[in-house]
Amino acid sequence: MFSKTVITYTPGLGKKVGDVFRNISSTAVNHLNSQQVFEREEKYCAHNYHPLPVAICKGEGVHVWDVDGKKYLDFLSGYVCLNQGHCHPKIVAALREQAGILTHTSRAFFSDTLGEYAEYLTKLLGFDKMLPMNTGVEADDTALKLARKWGYYKKKIPADQAKVIFAAGNFWGRSLAAVSASTDPTSYGGYGPKMPGFHNIPYNDLKALEEAIKDPNVCAFMVEPIQGEAGVVVPHDGYLRGVRELCTKYNVLWIDDEVQTGLGRTGKRLCVDHENVKPDILVLGKALSGGVYPISAALANDDIMLVIEPGTHGSTFGGNPLAAKVALAAVKVIEEEKLADNAAKMGEIFRRELSKLPKSIVSEVRGKGLINAIEINKGKQFNAWDICIKMRDNGLITKPTHDQNIRFAPPLTINEQQLTQGLEIIEKSIKSFIK
Ligand SMILES: Cc1ncc(COP(=O)(O)O)c(C=O)c1O
Repeated sequence: MFSKTVITYTPGLGKKVGDVFRNISSTAVNHLNSQQVFEREEKYCAHNYHPLPVAICKGEGVHVWDVDGKKYLDFLSGYVCLNQGHCHPKIVAALREQAGILTHTSRAFFSDTLGEYAEYLTKLLGFDKMLPMNTGVEADDTALKLARKWGYYKKKIPADQAKVIFAAGNFWGRSLAAVSASTDPTSYGGYGPKMPGFHNIPYNDLKALEEAIKDPNVCAFMVEPIQGEAGVVVPHDGYLRGVRELCTKYNVLWIDDEVQTGLGRTGKRLCVDHENVKPDILVLGKALSGGVYPISAALANDDIMLVIEPGTHGSTFGGNPLAAKVALAAVKVIEEEKLADNAAKMGEIFRRELSKLPKSIVSEVRGKGLINAIEINKGKQFNAWDICIKMRDNGLITKPTHDQNIRFAPPLTINEQQLTQGLEIIEKSIKSFIK
């Protein structure tokens, strides 16, 4: 049983809560209330996140429930992984079925599942080959390794001189390489020295790109077609086409990081489809599994992909039978249920309605399909976090991203009625801050 101690959740104060848990019996663990869930996680997990105080125990479609039985609309989708909604029955069925047959082989051997998945994905997206990994950061790192090797083998860059160009504001994960590419001190601060050969230019700036990639030692430009973590920053129309043209002109590989924007999120299968252009290396993650398992991939044609020889790159879990079956089911759901089309349609309605929010609080609405953000005016007595808490109280969860931005990325399965309900909660929450 629990002791009677009552402690209010205060992020970062995990070490004060120990007494609460001293007396938990093993049976009581399944019946924690929200406060107890917060405190246990704070006590035993590293404080590398600052979660919104909501203790989720169940998800279905666009909804989640907390341990106290309250229902919410999920407008973050687990950091934009759940394009297919929580616990999509077809993806869960694929997971369950394969889990009882064969889960893991490693790529020391062939399996009867990986080729089926790879054939489907490469044919769907128009690349010769894919390289399966687990998390987004690993697939991005894979793309960069491919680019460096291609640079040495094909572009004949002198040994160890290859440079990669990134856009300021980029986010591609938390590894040492990823934070080396970052311009955000919150990401790289305290983790130096940075990886050599990484350079930043402004985002959405083709002149700066041309200047940078004239350098014959540049092997790649890696960029998100919309910068998600930076606060849903959408480049001008024609930027992606310009990137394609410049990278072709200077024989530089274009790495398209669609870990967040890919697989229907922006209202097309890929975000680059809005400008009908094709990158040299495509990186996918997040929704590639519908949020049920960490699955990512880098895709490229043979002239690039085959620079990686056996034994020079890999991952123990990447492309295992469970991952292969889950990813296959997850991508088929996006295609069969036409989720990109729904994202485009719902996104139009969403942005139209968001733009009616009071300008005294919301200075900007940005986005494409169902990846959108609002920017909250600075200098108020409240901030984006306070608004997220209010929305939570009213039954919708999401989180601020970078200062005063609030990102909205519901599952792409959302229907108009659910979207309207979400909009009503957002409006009511924001208006409650008007004095
Ligand atoms: C564009 C982009 N690339 C890569 C990543 C890293 O993915 P993961 O957290 O699965 O490593 C993210 C995560 O948010 C992302 O938004």
